[in-house]
Amino acid sequence: MIGIMGAMIEEIEPFLKRLSDVKTTQIGRNAYHEGLYGGKRVTLAYSRIGKVNAAITATALIERFGADKILFSGVAGAIGKDLRIGDLIYATKLVQHDVDITAFGHPIGFIPETGDFFETSAELNKIAEEVALAKGVKLGKGVIATGDQFVADSVKKELIGERFKADAVEMEGASVACACDAFRVPFFALRAISDAADMDAGFNFDAFLASSAKISADFVLDMVAKL
Ligand code: ADE
Repeated sequence: MIGIMGAMIEEIEPFLKRLSDVKTTQIGRNAYHEGLYGGKRVTLAYSRIGKVNAAITATALIERFGADKILFSGVAGAIGKDLRIGDLIYATKLVQHDVDITAFGHPIGFIPETGDFFETSAELNKIAEEVALAKGVKLGKGVIATGDQFVADSVKKELIGERFKADAVEMEGASVACACDAFRVPFFALRAISDAADMDAGFNFDAFLASSAKISADFVLDMVAKL
């Protein structure tokens, strides 16, 4: 079964509209929508914002619903200078930019026996490249940095960019990658840019959340059709 995740209702709704035979299960505080897309069984999970919510939801998707792969869809703040609002980027690897045990000599983002960067599935990434080619859309790829912070500050953004060579910043991806790594489940993470993580980020996020979330969801559904 294919697990799909989003962290905000705006990231979930474009999927929900296009699934058929939907059965919704509430587990604790999260909703899981089992349904069909193009004859494929998917479970769409609404995690709510942040790393802990996302890791809990990914774990439930794997353990309770039997997801054998997870595709995350949503929006992100751009760090890379050539990324514009609405542009798509998938993660080749993800890192938790707010993990700090530097007091013990570890680099920022590093957790002993876990590491820092989580790689995504080469197979799923290849399918994404094929879908982009078929759709004729520009698809970026790079490092996505995740933290429990909405970044709306150019200095902070540059720091994250330099430290991790990150191209985009968001609040869930690396924690889902961590859960998928723990359970050995292939992971794909796609984001459409909603803002530039700068002083205008709050305003732009509100303005472009829905439209960018839909761009990301439409792309992921085209991937589902090819899985
Ligand atoms: N998601 C979308 N934009 C973001 C930002 N600027 N910081 C963190 N997460 C985001």
